[in-house]
Amino acid sequence: MDTECARLPAREEVMTMTTTPTCDSASPNDAPLLSVSGITKHYGGVTAVDEVSFAVPAGTVLGLVGPNGAGKTTLLDCIVGTQVASAGAIRVGGRAVGPGPTVRARAGLARTFQHPQLALELSPVENIVPGLVGRRLGSYAGSVRAMFRGLAGTPHGALTRAAELAAEYGVTTEDVSTGDLGLGAQRLVEIARAMASQPRVLLLDEPFAGSDRNGIAAVSRAIGQARDSGRSVVLVDHNVDLIADLADTVVLLADGRIAFSGDPSECMRSAEMQAVYFGTPLSTEENR
Ligand SMILES: Nc1ncnc2c1ncn2[C@@H]1O[C@H](COP(=O)(O)OP(=O)(O)OP(=O)(O)O)[C@@H](O)[C@H]1O
Ligand SMILES: [Mg+2]
Repeated sequence: MDTECARLPAREEVMTMTTTPTCDSASPNDAPLLSVSGITKHYGGVTAVDEVSFAVPAGTVLGLVGPNGAGKTTLLDCIVGTQVASAGAIRVGGRAVGPGPTVRARAGLARTFQHPQLALELSPVENIVPGLVGRRLGSYAGSVRAMFRGLAGTPHGALTRAAELAAEYGVTTEDVSTGDLGLGAQRLVEIARAMASQPRVLLLDEPFAGSDRNGIAAVSRAIGQARDSGRSVVLVDHNVDLIADLADTVVLLADGRIAFSGDPSECMRSAEMQAVYFGTPLSTEENR
């Protein structure tokens, strides 16, 4: 990915969206919006995620980095409930949230996928519509209500709102097949769909992969807007420069475990980072 020339907007340049509501970030006892405690995931004999804990306060971005196979996607899957963790717990706004993706969506979690999950034959705007009802579909009453409202004509309203979101996130509103879009544009459709549910926590799995510099700037802007509207953002990517630019804190995963957690620039300079990415031994002082 060519990111050398990509100019990211500075925090102060990121304009707060006019139509995206701010997040309900109120938590009892000022608890972080997202709290991950001891998440572990075994696949047979493989431990993909091993007792990972971190917290993401409202209005902050946590960068999650680590080499291929480190467990980043599995951790996201466990957080949003598409995979059932072998151990550990998730809290949103200080409250424990049960398993399952609908329960987690209703609690305010929304994500994008490393490999976009979109209906390729539908238009980009049509792909954003499910995000508008996704959080309500988490409850039985919400499902019934959404179904009847849909039958009664909500589609027009939903399409109008989805088109507004498309325009906000730089997604085409033309009636084209989403499958004809490039990967970077498809990632923006997923971000718009996730934001349509007005999440409290936004989790992005490699949102820059396959994007050109315009796409990178658009994704960076969306992340800044999500943060500035009081949401918590978990940002998975391999591009440590982008992570260092956007994240307030970084968690470095290696073999499913946290190798480093803290300030992004310290992480980039750390012996742990060197060891994980370049194989340089840890604690060179001690080894002398
Ligand atoms: N469904 C599964 N069944 C068995 N093993 C799995 C499954 N999903 C992931 N794994 C294993 O879990 C480990 C972590 O994989 P994961 O995809 O979470 O890593 P990642 O950090 O997202 O990697 P990448 O940067 O390549 O996306 C790997 O060893 C992988 O092979
Ligand atoms: Mg992954």
